[in-house]
Amino acid sequence: MEVDLRTTMRTFATGVTVVTTYVDGPEGRRHDAMTVNSLTSISLLPPLVSISLRNTSAFLADVLDSGVFAVSILDVGAADLAGTFAAGRPVRTAALRSACTTPGAVTGALIIDSPGWLECTVHRAVPLGDHTLVVGEVVASGVQRRRPPLIFLHGDYHALDTSPRHKPLLHATR
Ligand SMILES: Cc1cc2nc3c(=O)[nH]c(=O)nc-3n(C[C@H](O)[C@H](O)[C@H](O)COP(=O)(O)O)c2cc1C
Repeated sequence: MEVDLRTTMRTFATGVTVVTTYVDGPEGRRHDAMTVNSLTSISLLPPLVSISLRNTSAFLADVLDSGVFAVSILDVGAADLAGTFAAGRPVRTAALRSACTTPGAVTGALIIDSPGWLECTVHRAVPLGDHTLVVGEVVASGVQRRRPPLIFLHGDYHALDTSPRHKPLLHATR
């Protein structure tokens, strides 16, 4: 039977994040940021999350070099930002200079003004097929009340309708 993982996974709605890291070189610290929707919460004790990055990713090389990354969970107004940080590195580094960011207090990786963020140290990196699963230990986190999250589904960005007439279907207990 033919497997078409990409087509099936397009029906799986996710949030959208921008992950940041940096490398320190002779000319100082060079930050980079990349749009990622493979964020998964793995463990609460210790707090672990994972992201899955293409093996050929320049960004992955930086994460493995610095050993730290930050994750900013985007709100519905940040679709343009998600598009920008999915482009090539020159576009991303230029955009980072004008984006509203703060260096994380623990790791120094940039945090984007967003509803929720995590700072992580690399706990493990496991090459699996054409991607590498990067497991991060969460060393700092934060939330702030903002607009609803940005949703990625069927290859497009969507808004979640949180108006009162669209009440949750069921109260989740997890
Ligand atoms: C919504 C969205 C989610 C993405 N999620 C991932 C992801 O989880 N892992 C990944 O490797 N690339 C992901 N990408 C693609 C990267 O952002 C894009 O390929 C980037 O240019 C890679 O940069 P690099 O190869 O220079 O490191 C995503 C793109 C979009 C638009």
